[in-house]
Amino acid sequence: MNLNLINKINELKTEKNAVILVHNYQRPEIYKVADFMGDSIELCKAAAKTDADMIVFCGVDFMAESAKILNPEKKVLIPTRQAECPMAGMVRKKDLLDLKKEYPEAAIVSYVNTRAETKAISDICCTSANAVEVVNSLPNKEIIFVPDENLANYVQSKSDKKIIPWKGFCYVHAKITADQIMEAKKAHPEAKVIAHPECKMDVLKLADHVGSTSQMLTVAKKDEVREFIIATEHGMVERLRLEIPDKKFYMIVTTCIQMKENTLEKVLKSLQEEIHPVKLDEEIIRKARKALEKMLEVSKKMD
Ligand code: 13P
Ligand code: SF4
Repeated sequence: MNLNLINKINELKTEKNAVILVHNYQRPEIYKVADFMGDSIELCKAAAKTDADMIVFCGVDFMAESAKILNPEKKVLIPTRQAECPMAGMVRKKDLLDLKKEYPEAAIVSYVNTRAETKAISDICCTSANAVEVVNSLPNKEIIFVPDENLANYVQSKSDKKIIPWKGFCYVHAKITADQIMEAKKAHPEAKVIAHPECKMDVLKLADHVGSTSQMLTVAKKDEVREFIIATEHGMVERLRLEIPDKKFYMIVTTCIQMKENTLEKVLKSLQEEIHPVKLDEEIIRKARKALEKMLEVSKKMD
């Protein structure tokens, strides 16, 4: 761990009145400079209420974009342009508008893992922590759900509404198989399984708990069981081991390359040179903000 780098980052943070928001999947070295760590919804909330002048977002592009949408007047920096979530790029505006024509009564619910222009044509956003509640809060009987098909199927299993799923997927979670979970269960018969809802349905059926990355932390703390098999990006296991050192966590190894693009060196350079600022069209910000704020209202009721 480079203490010199960490010290330099912390000094610059104070000098520039900046905050560093860090997603749970980041490298543990990045945790050391975090002002706040969490899942997508917690990071949205932290971004919405910060009074810092600058936000450095250590996560992926759609997360930094959401922070910008909620804080158009602030400088939001992403340390590397390589941190692009492939799933967020799986929705073309024209295709989504065409689907809406087929289902004119349906509401469009977009997972936060989407580009700002998708959010701008959505009725409401959701994260993996609140997707079921968001969908069930709507008056519409039909829901177009973009982009993650697995999350859409999970929501369908918890809702009476007709979910019209998009064919998007997260390559990290799609790799996890039911066979891997069965093998891990055989090796660790006392362990409970916690899975992210971006996993396929046959994996989710084997899980004792399904939830967002931070919900994993909450259930692992609460559940009296001492061992867990974790079905999500392996960085989450680092966070669980750090926060709950007296319990055991077994990972199904799967890596989000884009999440790992952020390094301490890039965070320092980002603060020094104020790169790379998130830039979005004002009209897109205005429309996307409505969808994000509606989600935050639903989430507030869940707290
Ligand atoms: P969470 O909101 O659960 O942290 O998920 C973000 C994500 O990108 C999962 O792949
Ligand atoms: Fe995107 Fe999947 Fe990486 Fe999450 S884990 S940022 S959904 S590619």
